[in-house]
Order: sequence, then structure tokens, then C-alpha cells
Amino acid sequence: MVSKVKSIEKRSFPRSEALDFDAELKKCNTTLLVATLNRESREKLGGYCVFARVRRDVLLHKICVEEDVRRQGIAYAMIQHVRQTVGQKSDKIILWVDEARLPARKLYERCGFAELETCLDYYGPGRHGLKMILKLAT
Ligand SMILES: CC(C)(COP(=O)(O)OP(=O)(O)OC[C@H]1O[C@@H](n2cnc3c(N)ncnc32)[C@H](O)[C@@H]1OP(=O)(O)O)[C@@H](O)C(=O)NCCC(=O)NCCS
Repeated sequence: MVSKVKSIEKRSFPRSEALDFDAELKKCNTTLLVATLNRESREKLGGYCVFARVRRDVLLHKICVEEDVRRQGIAYAMIQHVRQTVGQKSDKIILWVDEARLPARKLYERCGFAELETCLDYYGPGRHGLKMILKLAT
């Protein structure tokens, strides 16, 4: 399964933004969530999400959905699942997103995230990062 995740990651992100899954998944506070679809009796990987718990915060490192199954609610469902999983043990979910990634920004807004701050050149020259936060009910 992890090899399929790596393959989607490779197709979806530039090398400079690729997550080192081997290193990340060794960390005991990090979780890989995968969304599978049953299509014509075959299991297909629809998307994945990587998040880490740091004290009472959750850092959403990555979320990605296969191109041919986007706009079907998969990413939204994964974020809701993360919320349920971290439950009352966490105060907020924090993430950074390239401000040019409009579908991702729309997704996070739809999930209730608020924009907190912008960091210029966060992803490289001219590529600004947006910090977003979702406060969880405690
Ligand atoms: C961002 C991404 C994860 C969204 O996945 P998805 O499964 O298509 O999203 P969903 O179908 O769950 O969409 C939920 C909501 O997000 C918003 N949204 C998602 N994609 C959108 C798009 N292309 N344009 C506008 N709004 C969009 C909409 O509000 C949508 O709700 P609606 O369909 O009821 O209008 C997907 O486009 C992707 O993998 N992109 C490349 C990787 C990436 O940029 N990851 C984020 C940074 S790590």
C-alpha cells in the first residue's frame, strides 16, 4: 500500500515537495491514512493523508487524491476522519499550503480552516506559504 502512496505522491508533487515516507512513517506520532475505493470488484487507492500529533496539536503534512477521482468528496471525508481520530485529545489542526494551490485552499476552507498568516517564499522564490488552522471543539 505504501508503494502505491509513494507512486501517487511522485505523480502529484514536484520532487522538492515529495514527502520522505520511509523517514516520516518511522515516527511514532505520525499517521498515514489511506482512502480506498471499490471499483468493479477491484480495490483502488483513492488518496492519502499524512498527519502528526505534536502535544495537543495536529500537523496535517500532506493530503492528496488521485486525479481521476477528485471532486467526489474523498479529501473532505479524510479530513473529517482525521478530526474524529484525534478527537478530544487535540486542540487544533495546523497546516501550510502553497497559496497557488487553489483546490487545496478551497478544500480547507470548506472544512472550516481559517487563514492565519502568509510566509513569503516558503516553498521557494515567489511561492508563498499560507498557514491555516482549524480549531477543534474541546
Ligand atoms: C486538494 C485535493 C486533495 C482535493 O481532493 P478532492 O477529493 O478532489 O476534494 P473533495 O472532493 O473532497 O472536495 C471537497 C471540497 O473542496 C473544494 N474543492 C476541492 N477541489 C476543488 C477544485 N478543484 N476547485 C474548487 N473547489 C474545490 C470544494 O469546496 C469541495 O466541495 P464541493 O465538491 O462540495 O464543492 C486534490 O485536488 C489534490 O490531491 N490536489 C493535489 C495535491 C494537493 O494540492 N494537496 C494539498 C497540499 S498537500
